[in-house]
Amino acid sequence: MLQFKLVLLGDSSVGKSSIVHRFVKDSFDEFRESTIGAAFLSQTIKLEKQDDVTIKFEIWDTAGQERYKSLAPMYYRNANAALIVYDITQPDSLAKAQSWVDELKNKVGDQDLVICLVGNKLDLCEEDPQKRVVDTEDAQRYASEQGLLFQEVSAKTGAGVTDIFQTIGEKLYVQ
Ligand code: GTP
Ligand code: MG
Repeated sequence: MLQFKLVLLGDSSVGKSSIVHRFVKDSFDEFRESTIGAAFLSQTIKLEKQDDVTIKFEIWDTAGQERYKSLAPMYYRNANAALIVYDITQPDSLAKAQSWVDELKNKVGDQDLVICLVGNKLDLCEEDPQKRVVDTEDAQRYASEQGLLFQEVSAKTGAGVTDIFQTIGEKLYVQ
């Protein structure tokens, strides 16, 4: 069994904790409380493409509120993977995600950190396309320019959530 440390970063209320809970507990809460400091959870998966390989993710779900920003380095230091989450219905959240990408690249350098840009709340745009403010193509282009993995998801329906961890698991396994 391989073990990797994964950190979630991104603006408050983009849905970091909801993504983690979908992945770890397969549940969703409409009224989730904002995270204080950070929360730790873990989950084990079997890689779909190498089904004898089990990967354990040790997950640090950080708090997005500004007052906790200075704690973040404690959680991304020594991380193997990072999910940088934004909300596809909130324009400012992508800019915030991009500043996390810059910070990670400056502070962590190229120590084989796998970064995945994650656009959450896909269900809201399926319900009402007018709610989308970040185009898939724009986010995708930014991600490929920066060498990041990219996935749009819904923590509410679960769409795309396990795909993130499968893709990251595969990448960490082969590198
Ligand atoms: P902080 O802990 O403050 O950094 O926020 P967070 O990024 O952890 O956000 P959280 O998971 O607490 O979600 C914020 C709100 O968005 C909650 O009310 C969730 O129910 C809601 N939410 C999260 N993901 C989704 C989603 O995929 N779709 C919809 N419709 N709502 C979501
Ligand atoms: Mg949270």
